[in-house]
Amino acid sequence: PARGEPFRPQLSFSPQRNWMNDPNGLVYHDGEYHLFYQYNPNRNTWGDMSWGHAVSSDLLHWTELPLALPVEKNASGEITQMFFSGSAVVDHANTSGFGQPGKPAMVAMVTSMYPQARTVNGKPVRAGTQAQSIAYSLDRGRTWTQYAGNPVLPEPPTPYAAEYRDFRDPKMFWYEPEHKWVLATVVAKQHKALFYSSRDLVHWEWTGEFGPAGATGGVWECPDLIELPVDGDPAKRKWVLVISLNPGGPAGGSGMQYFVGDFDGKTFKRDRDAAGDAPRWLDYGADFYAGVTYNDVPGGRRLLVGWMNNWLYGEKVPTAPWRSAQSLPRELGLRTVNGQVKLVQQPIAQAQGLRGPSLYSAAGQTITRGTQAVPLTGTASAPLELKMVLQPGTATRAGIRLGQGTYTEIGYDAKQGAVYVDRTKSGETAFHPQFAARHTAPVALRDGGLPLRILVDRGSVTVFAGDGEAVLTDQVFPPAGAAGVSLFGVDGDAHVRDLDIWSLNSIWK
Ligand code: FRU
Repeated sequence: PARGEPFRPQLSFSPQRNWMNDPNGLVYHDGEYHLFYQYNPNRNTWGDMSWGHAVSSDLLHWTELPLALPVEKNASGEITQMFFSGSAVVDHANTSGFGQPGKPAMVAMVTSMYPQARTVNGKPVRAGTQAQSIAYSLDRGRTWTQYAGNPVLPEPPTPYAAEYRDFRDPKMFWYEPEHKWVLATVVAKQHKALFYSSRDLVHWEWTGEFGPAGATGGVWECPDLIELPVDGDPAKRKWVLVISLNPGGPAGGSGMQYFVGDFDGKTFKRDRDAAGDAPRWLDYGADFYAGVTYNDVPGGRRLLVGWMNNWLYGEKVPTAPWRSAQSLPRELGLRTVNGQVKLVQQPIAQAQGLRGPSLYSAAGQTITRGTQAVPLTGTASAPLELKMVLQPGTATRAGIRLGQGTYTEIGYDAKQGAVYVDRTKSGETAFHPQFAARHTAPVALRDGGLPLRILVDRGSVTVFAGDGEAVLTDQVFPPAGAAGVSLFGVDGDAHVRDLDIWSLNSIWK
């Protein structure tokens, strides 16, 4: 059925109907990758926040399951508890005691949002409280039991007691050096990440904080803290603190930044480098937010999923009966680029398995001024993948256009030293005044060339430039049947090397 919906993503998860935002509870367990998500089961806009649920064995093909944590309402229909963003772990050592022999518990920590003042399990909560609660499942995430002592973190630590309405988005993980659980959360308006430790997932001790730093133009949300090898060297490791920011993102509205440094089991300390306090953006497009990584991925890979939308116009995008997709998972790494340790991202390796017929393949070709259609051997309709090395040469701008007349332009701007996505002529843009825009990501050429990998889905384009240190994710809503790929150059001659275009197979079989 998904094949017939003009903007329904064919490469990544979207629910069949209704509103979705952040990915939650990303964890691998027993052959399944779980994707929980912020979900309104009753409408196509935000509200009645519940945890939706889908599973996949390969991170490409998803099965939507019944709600994991449905919103709670009283007899008069008023909301008494909403389930905001959070994370999940598998308690293999049964530290919590929730497990049974041969059945480790999957334990989720979620932000309980209590609209009214009330008493929860004997604990008084004020109206508008955001507190952290846990729930566990013994049947692979299908059914959940809420812990009888919730909330386990009823309020922020004393110095931030006033922030009880903006204390959310707990991300838990196992910290092997000290055999304990660690959690990162935020006091959103203070632009602070808070770190906690626990032996049993129930009792948590506040151990440190980070921030404000970098970009602070909006609330800090959905933190994640991950360790990665630098340049693939397992002996050289760094920690990355990922923070979502809304508004204040690089393309307007929601955005994501990251910090590189160290974590000593208690707190995160950022490395100082020449860039000073300048924000480092995880994605320079407008539509990548609330991204967090999977726990327990086999082989230790670090896989990130983000919400492909923006709070600026998220409830207005022209899709129905569903709204919002999650991104295709991305594999993360750290790479030294021009002397700076940078986060690099690539689509998960499994995505290459979606490649269908080649529509074009050429070793090299010159792009003269103007546009030249690429002679494709089949229909260029999404989903597509394009790979190339773009050599801007003497052109001030050069790159590729998807579509004719109505098109999305992806190029390199020599004056700005940046790769960009221009969606001003991409199709439906009028639903919000800031949607029609051009988004840029600074990137350095290698020997005059820029490696580009572009995933074109129904409803979005994602551009991975260089080693993946510059990424742009943008929604686009082209007219039905939009087809054709052309190369363009402005004010000079450019060149493309190793241009490959594939038609991709849909994940909805
Ligand atoms: C981020 C966010 C989170 C919150 C959730 C509520 O998009 O605002 O901070 O937990 O959405 O749906």
